[in-house]
Formats: sequence, C-alpha cells, structure tokens
Amino acid sequence: MKNIILIGFMGVGKGSVAREVIKHSDYIAIDTDDLIESMENKTIKKVFAQDGEEYFRALEKKVSLWLENSVENTLISTGGGFYKQKNIKNIGTIVLLDSPFDKIIKRIKTHPNAAKKLKKRPLLADLKKAQELYDERLPEYKALADIVIDVTSKSALECAKEVLKKVKKYA
Ligand code: S3P
Repeated sequence: MKNIILIGFMGVGKGSVAREVIKHSDYIAIDTDDLIESMENKTIKKVFAQDGEEYFRALEKKVSLWLENSVENTLISTGGGFYKQKNIKNIGTIVLLDSPFDKIIKRIKTHPNAAKKLKKRPLLADLKKAQELYDERLPEYKALADIVIDVTSKSALECAKEVLKKVKKYA
C-alpha cells in the first residue's frame, strides 16, 4: 500500500477522516503535528509562540524527509501548511479534503470543543487573515492533489470511504 497524505485547510476534518480510514482499513495513521509536538514536547501553539513559525516550518521539513525515507503503508494527516514541503509528492498519494472557507469555520464553531479547536490554531486567531490564507492556498492545494474530496455536508465516515475507494487506483 502506498502512503496516503491528507492535505487541506485547518479545521477541514483531516484528523476525523484519518480516524475513520484506519477503522475501515489496514492503514496505520500518523499526524505531522502530533509528531512535531512529541519531538518538541510542547504544543504547536507553544512552538509558534516561543520559537516562531519559521522554526515550525523547519520541523515540518524534517518530518517530511523522514516520511519520505522511512514510512510505508501509512495514512498521514498533515498540518494545513505541510503541503508546501518540496518532497511531498514522493511521500505518497495526495488527497485534498476540500470545503469552502465559511463552511470550515462553521464546522469548527459548532463543534462541542469549538473554543479549544480555535485556540490551538494560531493562524485562525484573525479570521480575515485566515480567509486570505485560504484564498492563497486553495489553488495550490488543488494543483498538488491527486484526488480531491469535497467534504462539505459529508460525515467523516462517508469521506473516509470515498478516500479508500479513490486511492485504489493509485495503489
Ligand atoms: C497550520 C495548520 C495547523 C498546524 C499549524 C499551522 C497551517 O494544523 O500545523 O497551526 O499553516 O495551516 P491543522 O491543519 O491540523 O489545523
């Protein structure tokens, strides 16, 4: 099995879809933000606040090289900016989880843990800037993706089934 890499904007549901994919397949799941948090022994929020975004991006680069050289048969969910890693195409099949910005924000705001979800993401602190970031990234996400899944109004389980069906072509 080739690795599957889930990309997409913050809050689109990469983690929830990853959890459903592993329930319904033999993939193991890892998450680039989780790897960074364990490497640094602090939250992403703290890495941004104490060490800065540039430092965080350098950690993403380190993780991307490790993934390329050492990881197989894995579902990799990524932070929203991880797609910028130059070697991402060498890591596996790239699946974009796509949804309009307003729907993503609504999804976060109506989540039972909404406050926590917003607080842990430094780049969502200013929603106007986040919208600009979304507009800038969307064409880049789409250009990179092997598969695009519109997640709007779909459950994580429905999205996961779609991921598993569509990646078969790339196995
Ligand atoms: C980021 C997305 C976050 C996290 C960091 C930066 C981004 O991950 O990696 O806060 O640049 O979009 P999620 O997409 O899981 O929120």
